[in-house]
Amino acid sequence: MSFIVDEELEDYAERHTTPPDPLLAELAAETKATMAAPQMLTGPIEGRFLELLVAGSGAKRVLELGTFTGYSALSMAAALPPDGRIDTLDIEPKHAEVAQRYFDRSPDGSKITLHLGPALETIAKLEGEFDFVFIDADKPNYDAYYEAVLPRLSERGLIAIDNTLWSGKVLDPPDESSRLIAALNDKLAADERVVAVQLTVRDGITLIRRR
Ligand SMILES: C[S@@+](CC[C@H](N)C(=O)[O-])C[C@H]1O[C@@H](n2cnc3c(N)ncnc32)[C@H](O)[C@@H]1O
Repeated sequence: MSFIVDEELEDYAERHTTPPDPLLAELAAETKATMAAPQMLTGPIEGRFLELLVAGSGAKRVLELGTFTGYSALSMAAALPPDGRIDTLDIEPKHAEVAQRYFDRSPDGSKITLHLGPALETIAKLEGEFDFVFIDADKPNYDAYYEAVLPRLSERGLIAIDNTLWSGKVLDPPDESSRLIAALNDKLAADERVVAVQLTVRDGITLIRRR
């Protein structure tokens, strides 16, 4: 993944963001050292951004699609009140094993429930509404994930979709994943059910609320 903004500016933004807690820094280091695709980790800027969104919106119930090694789940959990909770899901046992190990070490870990399995099946099993949904699993299914979670959003709830600028490839999609993300972006901008904003944070994040 290449960043949307100039690399020097991205570094500057990271240096002017509150540094990660030691546990998150350790998780990021282990992910980089041991995982095949460590760039999937949201990282310091997006982690803090998610934390602030959860804190500022007063969310109590969070759903995350795509746990990976747990960086974003732990970032959001830090902003939840003691009775808040996150359901996070992933299909890959190797990712879930690392994430759960870090959840078990975190003071916020008891707020997080990790579900193993295909996202759409897990969403269907979960009950109730969500105040904040972070969509960050496999890109070809993004539209299906959006449609599955939109009716489950609480009245003032927010959805954040990650990687919606896809290293800039949405401008002239060279492959199927890029084309599907670009098509979803077009749909979101015109979708009368919601208000959406496309942000150029990291690899592109789209924030959505229901009308
Ligand atoms: C970009 S990573 C998530 C990054 C994570 N949010 C973080 O902050 O580190 C995407 C994750 O989605 C998972 N995934 C892929 N397809 C999936 C599916 N059909 N259902 C659930 N998870 C899936 C992958 O195993 C991977 O861990």
